[in-house]
Amino acid sequence: MLDYFIAPSILSANFARLGDEVTTVLAAGADIIHFDVMDNHYVPNLTIGPLICEALRKHGITAPIDVHLMVKPVDRIIPDFAKAGATYITFHPEATEHIDRSLQLVRDCGCKSGLVFNPATPLDYLNYVMDKIDMVLLMSVNPGFGGQSFITSSLEKLRQARKLINDSGRDIRLEIDGGVKIDNIREIAQAGADTFVAGSAIFSTPDYRATIAAMRAQLAK
Ligand code: DX5
Ligand code: ZN
Repeated sequence: MLDYFIAPSILSANFARLGDEVTTVLAAGADIIHFDVMDNHYVPNLTIGPLICEALRKHGITAPIDVHLMVKPVDRIIPDFAKAGATYITFHPEATEHIDRSLQLVRDCGCKSGLVFNPATPLDYLNYVMDKIDMVLLMSVNPGFGGQSFITSSLEKLRQARKLINDSGRDIRLEIDGGVKIDNIREIAQAGADTFVAGSAIFSTPDYRATIAAMRAQLAK
């Protein structure tokens, strides 16, 4: 069985008390923290940058931080996030002129690298760079906002990505982002995902521990 990671997206956390929210959700059983970076250019929303990542590290957060860059361009901000304590740095292939170079930059900065695929972005961008990535992130909503509905064509795309990863024989995580809930996480896992971003599904509930436990119960079935 795959080693499943639950990755709460702090986009839906209470930003006024972010450090406590992250501490609480980790104590509730989260594995990694999904950190959504939006620039009001590549996506129509504006969120948080390296200073906030660094502040979480200074707050004592030691769990992996999974930085999802929804910014364009990416190269200038990658070293800043590495210095700020990012574990993973993933970006959208459309957001850089030189995909191979940007992936190499992430690794040269000491982080794990990944490519992110919008719902209509083909997986072909993985050709020739499987040796440079640690994570494939499939968007199951169009990026920019939390609380959207899961786009069902993502299930077939997950199956395709899972096959590419397995065929490569490499240790690459397959993450899904957008509209993940207790009632669809099992189907998503069966399609091949091993890392589950969930924002509103966790942070809109009063008891994060119960919600994460309910997700794990679905995964254990
Ligand atoms: C959307 C972000 C997601 C978002 C997911 O652009 O990348 O990480 O927070 O939110 P939910 O889980 O509410 O769909
Ligand atoms: Zn995200």
